[in-house]
Amino acid sequence: MTTTSTAAAPTADWVDPAALMIDPYPTYRRLRDECPVAWVPALSRYLVTSFAGCRAIEEDQETFSAAVSGGGATMARALGAQPMLRKDDPEHAHERGAINPALRPKTLRERWAPVFERNARTHLEVLRERGPDDADLNRDYAAPVASQNLVDLLGLKGTHVEDMRRWSHAFIAGTGNLLDDPGIWRRCDAARDEVDALLGELLPHLREHPDGSITSALVHSGLPLAQVSANVKLTIAGGMNEPQHMVTNVVWALSRHPDQRELVLGDPTRWPAVFDEAVRWLSPIGMYPRETTRETVLRDVLLPTGAPVGVVVGAANRDTTVFEHAESFDITRPRRPHLGFGSGTHLCAGHWAARIAIGEIAVPLLYTELPSLRTDPRRSESWDGWVFRGLTALPVTWSG
Ligand code: HEM
Repeated sequence: MTTTSTAAAPTADWVDPAALMIDPYPTYRRLRDECPVAWVPALSRYLVTSFAGCRAIEEDQETFSAAVSGGGATMARALGAQPMLRKDDPEHAHERGAINPALRPKTLRERWAPVFERNARTHLEVLRERGPDDADLNRDYAAPVASQNLVDLLGLKGTHVEDMRRWSHAFIAGTGNLLDDPGIWRRCDAARDEVDALLGELLPHLREHPDGSITSALVHSGLPLAQVSANVKLTIAGGMNEPQHMVTNVVWALSRHPDQRELVLGDPTRWPAVFDEAVRWLSPIGMYPRETTRETVLRDVLLPTGAPVGVVVGAANRDTTVFEHAESFDITRPRRPHLGFGSGTHLCAGHWAARIAIGEIAVPLLYTELPSLRTDPRRSESWDGWVFRGLTALPVTWSG
């Protein structure tokens, strides 16, 4: 990449964080069309919204570092030490290499698929008991299934799904606590103490008895204790919300597209494509941060050294220069890589776990057991967030 000058970044002073929270897609569309690399004063960062721009960032981690200053400091504070997500290679690769073996598709299918299925079946009964007039797919199924899957993958035996959910939320809030809200730190510190106490008992046992869990893989990788512990907490923060949101996103999308729902119910081999298309169309992580290590030019726009950059994969995934009729949910579209799991060196470590646990097991099971499942228009649903976006309530109903 050269540093010969082109234009300074245009300023998108019309971007309104409140509007992003309600529905980010109109803002994404306008940014992509008018200024795909823009300075956004309301967010104090540059936003990159085109597919090509987001990919270019991930192809050059020497210029676009994951070790961002503000968010890096809060993440280290929240998790007790800096985890792999806020490091560049080769340091990052060392930690990432430690958890990869536990999350390979073969291992997941052989060892974890039966566990994922058991968890899904257990909570399907809870949903069924709630009944078609009262069931909330988020509360009764998506959240507890995602939480229990993570408890098992991490090998944190005996942890209650509600504790896992609370820790996950506390770590996410702490990681984003740039304004130093003391209440957020209190909840985050309490969660950290609880997880540290649990690991204090578990790690000596795992050293003697490896069990195939992510925590066991980290313990046996030779990483120092602080790094084992920070990466367990990173996985707690990153491994629950998005799978949870994908359960509800898929059901929401299929309920609005009855033709596509019929297609997949008639041909279950389409489930992986349904999941992938939903991650593209309703990306649960809308944006993640990077920081420039030097002055650089990105897609003809000059960025200074130390520029805070938002990689807006939620916008890039609807880039019409890459995806035909990109704004539509279409499970028959030609397969093409999207950026919903990130890309490059930090490509989501748990993407196979999510594809298998949610895309191949938890969602298909819902429709096998309750074939008429759909969102319930009699009760209201709610969405929240844009950096992390998902349904916080999704009433569902069924007949028979
Ligand atoms: C649909 C579900 C999921 C989505 C959409 C998702 C998305 C992402 C994205 C976009 C990143 C990159 C962030 C960045 O570069 O700053 C990431 C990283 C990561 N994810 Fe996921 N994730 C999902 C599920 C999971 C699960 C189930 C786990 C664990 C079991 C997990 C663990 C991680 C870890 C450890 C990283 C850091 C990887 C690294 O730094 O090399 N994720 N995820």
